[in-house]
Amino acid sequence: MAGSYSDKVMDHFRNPRNVGEIPDADGIGQVGNPVCGDIMKVYIKVKDNIITDIKFKTFGCGAAIATSSMATELIKGKTIEEALKLTNRAVADALDGLPPVKMHCSVLAEDAIKSAIDDYLKKSTGVGLQGWTTHNEEHGH
Ligand code: FES
Repeated sequence: MAGSYSDKVMDHFRNPRNVGEIPDADGIGQVGNPVCGDIMKVYIKVKDNIITDIKFKTFGCGAAIATSSMATELIKGKTIEEALKLTNRAVADALDGLPPVKMHCSVLAEDAIKSAIDDYLKKSTGVGLQGWTTHNEEHGH
């Protein structure tokens, strides 16, 4: 089955970026994958609305590790708004694709990142992601 993974997936699986934890994180998100039960935890540091640092830990499979590695690379240095637009499909595309049976693994990274942002927003503004995005949709355009 290893042959069905792209070189980029194998690279991020063998040498994942941004693994670890941030002790003084501004937001922490943890989610479980309903499909396989694997767990992902994401830590973010935010300054002036920019994600300045991000780390993850996972009890997940190789595809979960590779997609988290790529997802954290993609949103580091981005604004909260840009990070929220990142989809699991965009992450999979950046890795030159994932086998279809492994697409559910990439959802873990996206959900954990959203959960970390939600946690950050609740702590910093008192309003979680849901209230915050509604607010932006009402007033932002
Ligand atoms: Fe669980 Fe991939 S099989 S995250």
